[in-house]
Amino acid sequence: MSEDPRLETGSSLERATADAVLDLARRAADVDGVEAVSEAFRLALTSGRGEVTHVLAYAGGSLAGYAARDGSGSAELVVDPSSRRQGAGRALLRAVLDAGATGVWAHGDLPAAKGLAADAGLVSTRELHVMERPVRDGDDVDPALPEGFSVRAFEPGRDEQAWLDVNRLAFASHPEQGSITLEDLHERMAQDWFDPAGFLLVEDTTATSDGGAHPLAAFHWTKREVGSDQGEVYVVGVHPAYQGRGLAGPLTGLGTAHLARQGVTTIELYVDGDNTRALATYRRAGFEDAAIHVVYGPAPAP
Ligand SMILES: CC(C)(COP(=O)(O)OP(=O)(O)OC[C@H]1O[C@@H](n2cnc3c(N)ncnc32)[C@H](O)[C@@H]1OP(=O)(O)O)[C@@H](O)C(=O)NCCC(=O)NCCS
Repeated sequence: MSEDPRLETGSSLERATADAVLDLARRAADVDGVEAVSEAFRLALTSGRGEVTHVLAYAGGSLAGYAARDGSGSAELVVDPSSRRQGAGRALLRAVLDAGATGVWAHGDLPAAKGLAADAGLVSTRELHVMERPVRDGDDVDPALPEGFSVRAFEPGRDEQAWLDVNRLAFASHPEQGSITLEDLHERMAQDWFDPAGFLLVEDTTATSDGGAHPLAAFHWTKREVGSDQGEVYVVGVHPAYQGRGLAGPLTGLGTAHLARQGVTTIELYVDGDNTRALATYRRAGFEDAAIHVVYGPAPAP
């Protein structure tokens, strides 16, 4: 017999409750092979910062599941492996949607998440591909750029504004990335992993601005956590005026060559499923899907 879960909703959690949720999330990740609660939501659990609504599901007096919605309307949800198929997931999903969630992440898009979303009448509204490829012999050699372009490393204190401008234009249709501010950029530059040598700027050497600088045409920002043997294609962008001129392939290769020279053995990246040009570029560069994370939400109005 299944019993109705009891739900508790709040904007902050006691430390012991947050720890119990983290334990539950760890048990689920062991069974599912993927984390249901992302880093941002894990931080919100313990810091109490951000506009987060937490929902706890109890069954038979113990914690059976957890869901949360952040200020942007994104939600995540997880049910303890020992409490599944008893209605907790359905109740938590309804609660976060009632609390204003517009999309629920299904990391790894597991069969149970697909089933729960279908049960609730939700559809896939966003797919985030995690792509990966091993580093092979010869990857450490820089590819040639088309004529008229050259590459150099980002210089802190000099290149911030030019980069922000190109990033905004290149990601005009991906506001999450395109709306990055100088403050956000500084925050990333203050991280341990930040290395200007891995933040590559491609300039148009056939033109000069009023100040005598070459215009920034494209960039490839790579990332490698300190000591990690995995590198990441962190952000790649081409100024719209320079799109369609064969920069994407060599631009990708310049970053992967830099990472290969750092000694990484695999390279990963995250790309939205609707970014067909980027997906095609990465597939051509040998990247394959390692996982797909899906956001489920109400079907858009016809
Ligand atoms: C997805 C998850 C939250 C479901 O939790 P749950 O408490 O087991 O779900 P419920 O018991 O409320 O199931 C409600 C309905 O979802 C569907 N469903 C749930 N698990 C399913 C499974 N393994 N396979 C197919 N459909 C499933 C069914 O339609 C089910 O109704 P039914 O039991 O009457 O057939 C849970 O498996 C989980 O924590 N997975 C890892 C995290 C995750 O993927 N979160 C994203 C959710 S969008």
